[in-house]
Amino acid sequence: MKVAIIGTGYVGLTTAVVLAYLNHDVAAVDKDESKLNLLQEGKSPIHEPGIQSLLEEVQHTIRFTPSVAEVVPEAELILIAVGTPPKKNGEADTRHVEQAAREVAEVCLPDRHYTLVVKSTVPIGTNRRVVEVVEDVFSARGVRGNISVASNPEFLQEGLALQGAFYPDRIVVGANSDEAIDTLRHLYQPILEQTFDPPSEFPRPAAYHLPPMMTTDPSSAEMIKYAANTFLALKISFINEIAGLCEEVDADVTEVARGIGLDARIGSQFLRAGLGWGGSCYPKDTAALLRVAAQSGYEMPITEAARTVNFRQRERIVEKLHGTLGTLKGKTIGVLGLAFKPNTDDVREAPALDIIRELIATGATVRAHDPIAIPNAQAALHRENTTTPELQFTEDVYELSYDADALVLVTEWDFYHKLELRKLAKQMKTPILIDGRNVYSPEEARVAGFHYIGIGRV
Ligand code: UDX
Repeated sequence: MKVAIIGTGYVGLTTAVVLAYLNHDVAAVDKDESKLNLLQEGKSPIHEPGIQSLLEEVQHTIRFTPSVAEVVPEAELILIAVGTPPKKNGEADTRHVEQAAREVAEVCLPDRHYTLVVKSTVPIGTNRRVVEVVEDVFSARGVRGNISVASNPEFLQEGLALQGAFYPDRIVVGANSDEAIDTLRHLYQPILEQTFDPPSEFPRPAAYHLPPMMTTDPSSAEMIKYAANTFLALKISFINEIAGLCEEVDADVTEVARGIGLDARIGSQFLRAGLGWGGSCYPKDTAALLRVAAQSGYEMPITEAARTVNFRQRERIVEKLHGTLGTLKGKTIGVLGLAFKPNTDDVREAPALDIIRELIATGATVRAHDPIAIPNAQAALHRENTTTPELQFTEDVYELSYDADALVLVTEWDFYHKLELRKLAKQMKTPILIDGRNVYSPEEARVAGFHYIGIGRV
């Protein structure tokens, strides 16, 4: 099938590469010149496990262009995967989605049928708005075009994006037109029936079951995306709230999570207590959902609380440092991990950045490390002028710990699991380890010489 994808961010690029791998004829459009140059040279602009090699493998069925007009007329299906950045009030800005729809309607051929699919995460009602935009363009052009609009939310997790795209739990389609549903079913057939040969880096999981394609109305599809993200976000916040109480009563939250997770109604996933969620989705989507609610005069105290608990986790880390070191002025704190989660270089809404800002504000010196996210963290902090001599970045964890007063583990990279704790502890001024992701066994860390402080455990 001839597919045009507008936007080559995490969602657009992952989708483009996977559809090309499934032998669809894919053209991806992006206006960002530097991104486009990289893609045209066959290089991925994002760090995502497996994407570079897959991009090389699908060179013959994928192309990248800045021009909607060049690819849309001949496409059968067009996916909009542009960003919906937050406005100041938290509302998701759908300007780029509407603009993409407008451009599509301007260049499509009046005598052909197209399916236009919104994949970006958008406020409920955007699908209806896209239909209006398309109709306005058709009436301005004086043509009776034939575009069916559908919503197909994306549930990819950074760091696991390709795994999730090849082996999703479900595919959700919101559409009022049978033609659009049929086209999407055809597009995803190799995934729905698992008829493709798995890429060597992404073997089919042994226990994987064929995923259902759920069809519903567009507004419900849009709501499913927000509700799913908010539910996952509050599941994490819930365990973090329990973790705080565990600290008060000498219980161990990792044991509590194990115990409640064994209840099939609760499930064991997303119960890892720690520094909470960051990234491009949960913070933005929970805020956008609250805006949608506020516009209807509806209160969502559970969603509000999930956010409060989440951002409090970052403050609690600094409080833990105060609790052990007293004043932080003049103290040297090593921060391990800058990305919002492992296996990505994404630092959007990363807990590490808030913690660094707070530590610098209290007069501490910060040495920060990350296996790959240092350039992005530097750029983000530079943009807001948080660059001072008191903030240093290093690629050597052992150098970072030398003479330091405390270490804070923020991102649970595999790399940190393998550190020589004894060597680290030995060269620190005071061997304090705040394990913000409960990566280490408290006993092991203590035997290595650390004063160990985890989240919600003694
Ligand atoms: C999320 C959703 O999982 C995905 O379906 C949606 O499309 C986009 O948002 P992502 O933000 O990439 O994906 O990562 P995810 O793995 O969900 O983790 C989000 C954050 O929660 C990370 O900061 C992670 O460290 C944190 N987290 C996750 C926890 O603190 N505890 C957990 O148990 C799980």
